[in-house]
Amino acid sequence: MINYRQITDETYWIGGSDRRLSRFENIFPLADGVSYNSYVIKDQKTALLDTADISISDQFLENLKGIIGDSKLDYLVINHMEPDHCSQIATVVSMYPDVTLVGNAKTFTFLSQFFPELNDQTKLTVAEGDSLDLGKHSLKFVMAPMVHWPEAMFSYDTATGALFSADAFGTFGAIDAGIFADEYDFEKRFLDEARRYYANIVGKYGMQVQAVLKKAQGIDIKMICPLHGPIWRKDISWFIDKYQKWSTYTPEDDDIVVIYGSLYGHTESAAQKAADLIRQKSGKQVRIYDASQTHTSTLISEVWRCSKIVLFCPTYNNGIYIPMANFIEDMIALSVQKRTFALAQNGSWAPASGKLMTEKLSTLKDVTILEPMLTIKSALHEADNAELEAFADAIVNA
Ligand code: FEO
Repeated sequence: MINYRQITDETYWIGGSDRRLSRFENIFPLADGVSYNSYVIKDQKTALLDTADISISDQFLENLKGIIGDSKLDYLVINHMEPDHCSQIATVVSMYPDVTLVGNAKTFTFLSQFFPELNDQTKLTVAEGDSLDLGKHSLKFVMAPMVHWPEAMFSYDTATGALFSADAFGTFGAIDAGIFADEYDFEKRFLDEARRYYANIVGKYGMQVQAVLKKAQGIDIKMICPLHGPIWRKDISWFIDKYQKWSTYTPEDDDIVVIYGSLYGHTESAAQKAADLIRQKSGKQVRIYDASQTHTSTLISEVWRCSKIVLFCPTYNNGIYIPMANFIEDMIALSVQKRTFALAQNGSWAPASGKLMTEKLSTLKDVTILEPMLTIKSALHEADNAELEAFADAIVNA
């Protein structure tokens, strides 16, 4: 069934949602699906902005045919060449062979790698500040390298103030009955997933996000049209402020998160005891996660949200317990910054995980690793209360 929606003057959303995919990029669990957005501007010239993932190709192509029919598609603007948005380019070209592909030099390098059969297709190469005239509408191009691939760019419609922002300002989560963010209670429905999306997909590139946010300050943005999740037409500054915080590694909340690994429950019990004490002493929200049970992408999202991270970790094969090691490696891969860590290690005969975690976390920029570290020999006991108090006090007073 054709299912597109007009979002502003002569501009249409023609995407769809995948509620069957279990993992985005075959990594990140999707409890609630994901949307792939594509847009059409129908003016004297007609432009399609990005295609969609192959998983929703039937819906996307039906929408495209429904909106354009047998009339001419003049341009396909490729804001992002990752396959979740570019998979249908060759199919669109086969449907509209006279279409001109619009992208920057890097776009066309990637296009040639993914679609060598399109090497002879008509192309228009654009650069920062270039414009494409469609009639009433005119698209101005803003390069957004590494948000989240090197070729990523934004297209800004000077007629409507719509910014087609590629992956930026996107979120995990299928589109329900509503295409605009203001048709939802966004904080309740999408914020956690938007943060998890940002931190895990774009989180490493804070500096590049900052660069593009600075460029955006000079643009009168009336609407943000991302490639995933709902479209923004109200309270845009609220969401831009989230990006401002996330991209500068500024904690969103002054909350504390306790993340533990535990083979048999003893380290878990110690983490629970410490979390209760920290909560009593600080009055702050304290969330607890089991690194073996909660997907690393959610732990990463909580790192972006909270200011203090407390890790409880057994020693395992003289090293860091594997689920915790994976989580720490992911923090390093994503260049986490500006956080305070408190570390507790457990070891029945040779506790070593604390020292090893310290070495790894010390490679992160602008982090504080609190003293004292808490050392547990097999299990926490009443005799350890003084050490536990000191450990909690250090976290609360940091
Ligand atoms: Fe949604 Fe970077 O692709």
